[in-house]
Amino acid sequence: MASLFDHQDAKKRHAELVKAIRHHDALYYQKDAPEISDADYDALRGELEVLEAKYPDLVTPESPTRKVGAEAASGFKKVRHAVPMLSLSNAFEDQDVLDFIERVRNFLNLKNAAISVVAEPKIDGLSCSLRYEGGKLAMAATRGDGAEGEDITANIRTVKDVPHILKGDPPDILEVRGEIYMRRDEFAALNAAQEKAGKPVFANPRNAAAGSVRQLDPKISAARPLHFFGYALGASSAPIADSQWDIRKKLKSYGFAEAEPSQLCETAEDILAYYRKVMEGRAEIPYDIDGVVYKVNRIDWQERLGFVSRAPRWAIAHKFPAQQAVTALKDIVIQVGRTGTLTPVADLEPVTVGGVVVSRATLHNEDEIVRKDVRVGDHVIVQRAGDVIPQIVGVVMDKRKSGAKKFVFPDTCPVCGSKAVREEGEVARRCTGGLICGAQAVERLKHFVSRNAFDIEGLGDKIINEFWTEGLVRTPGDIFRLAENDAKGIAQLKNREGWGAQSVKKLFDAIEARRTIGLERFIYALGIPQVGEATAKKLAANYASFDNWVAAMTRAQDRESEAWTELLTIEDIGPSVAGDVVDFFAEAHNREVLQDLGSVLTIAPYVVPRAGSSPVAGKTVVFTGTLSQMTRGEAKARAEALGAKVAGSVSKKTDYVIAGEDAGSKLKNARELGVAVLSEKEWLDLIA
Ligand code: IVH
Repeated sequence: MASLFDHQDAKKRHAELVKAIRHHDALYYQKDAPEISDADYDALRGELEVLEAKYPDLVTPESPTRKVGAEAASGFKKVRHAVPMLSLSNAFEDQDVLDFIERVRNFLNLKNAAISVVAEPKIDGLSCSLRYEGGKLAMAATRGDGAEGEDITANIRTVKDVPHILKGDPPDILEVRGEIYMRRDEFAALNAAQEKAGKPVFANPRNAAAGSVRQLDPKISAARPLHFFGYALGASSAPIADSQWDIRKKLKSYGFAEAEPSQLCETAEDILAYYRKVMEGRAEIPYDIDGVVYKVNRIDWQERLGFVSRAPRWAIAHKFPAQQAVTALKDIVIQVGRTGTLTPVADLEPVTVGGVVVSRATLHNEDEIVRKDVRVGDHVIVQRAGDVIPQIVGVVMDKRKSGAKKFVFPDTCPVCGSKAVREEGEVARRCTGGLICGAQAVERLKHFVSRNAFDIEGLGDKIINEFWTEGLVRTPGDIFRLAENDAKGIAQLKNREGWGAQSVKKLFDAIEARRTIGLERFIYALGIPQVGEATAKKLAANYASFDNWVAAMTRAQDRESEAWTELLTIEDIGPSVAGDVVDFFAEAHNREVLQDLGSVLTIAPYVVPRAGSSPVAGKTVVFTGTLSQMTRGEAKARAEALGAKVAGSVSKKTDYVIAGEDAGSKLKNARELGVAVLSEKEWLDLIA
């Protein structure tokens, strides 16, 4: 029995149980082929729970007692969203909200006109898109990476609030976006039942809802108390309203539930008063909300505002303040990231913060440790805000034990032993080991296969760590040789603990499916410092093909070259980002990786959005002078939405210069280079 164990035995038994449960989870959820009875499985879980209750320091967020159903993630069909599913940018302070209104006003050039805004709760669940065809529910999908989600139709059909047939007179095609959630009382009842049955409990209602939706067996989803609120539209064959407020009303009339309280706010004061009212009344709302959302009411304005990267310009989430707790700091561990940055991480006595057990938190960097004077053994304040990684905000000084020593930040890499240096003006200390540093190599691989990069299902962080340690995958190209090496008997994946022929096939299929990849994803996947998704896309749009890009970056090594100048004409790419891109190519190892990938992959040229549908698709344009019909920001966003590239300076490659009032040197350059110059009106006629 667990109570007779000393700590050493408990730790050993804990590891055995975790391993066994994971093994049986994989058999049950991923292969539908359990080897033991439900009762025996429940007994394993029961023993683990008893052990963890007695030795709470053994609990980690990865423990099977803290995770349920997530393992069932694979096995759903992928679906592309007709209209991308966006996320929201966040406001934390009142000033952020005022700035949002100001940005909208400036973007639309509204001067002093009132901007009505719909305010409604931000539900802490998981987003879902429902597609109706001829008024009938045809498909339900998760958000996934925003462009592609998972088909969860069978499970969503079991959610009572989701109408199977819409009431009234909806358009032929209508996609309703909204949130799947579980009420707090239902969550408590579900956990009580789980506990009684010796099954693991969920950390919070959001995890419970997500775990329930992602069950491969719709019968399990059906037995879970799930709900749905509609809050926005995706594709639609006809407009249903010309304001967000009326969209809410229409959705209600079709049979959807709408989150309350909602309010049509006319002024910033209204908005902030609404925020305080909802925050103070939060406990009365029967489900978890993590803030409120503001949406510009006029749909024509929403359309003009469009979106940046992954979030609409016409909406913002105003988050509630973070939740905090105090716990003991057991140790400070140094993690080494993809680019060699040493990040101090707090190893904590597990503590519940806002319903989630936290045992690790970031300490940001060396200076932050000094500033807060954090020492091992201290009691620290842990904070969780929304989706961000938990952080240490301070020390409870009167609980400090005498003799607690100041933390000394290492000047060598804890993984490879190379020197860790801090450049002038930088906050981060970096390992200089490059790819001889195992940590950097592994982190680069994790980034390479991550969701917005190659998105290879089945190659999670844990597997990458294992494959790297065992030498099966050392470079990105090795991933695409896995199947071949397995066939030769080198990898022998099916003999791994918890694996079988089926899971190996699934992994190889997932890898094969990514052997052709778009240039923008490919560039992002390389993990070049400062090259996020938006920059990767701009590079792809500018250079169009892999070969062209590689050739140009090779030439751009010479800072006097035209290729270097061209790189700098790309919007938002300044000398610092350009320098990082070029430096990446300067390293022999990176060039080898690129050459290797070029030989195992098909890197598809960049596809201009809606190419062909607009005369400006694929053209490079430069705006100069003062525009009268719209702001520079709106002009740029509209041009990009039509597939044009907007550059900051004029070169031979510029197709059009659009000259507003008082255009100066750029107009002169255009004339000298013989580039076509359009007035604002001519430009608007061209794109109309
Ligand atoms: S509007 C383009 N409204 O919050 C419209 N989102 O943090 C985008 N969410 O992905 C969403 N309540 O899953 C909207 N009332 C609400 C919401 C809401 C919750 C979620 C949604 C979104 C996430 C962004």
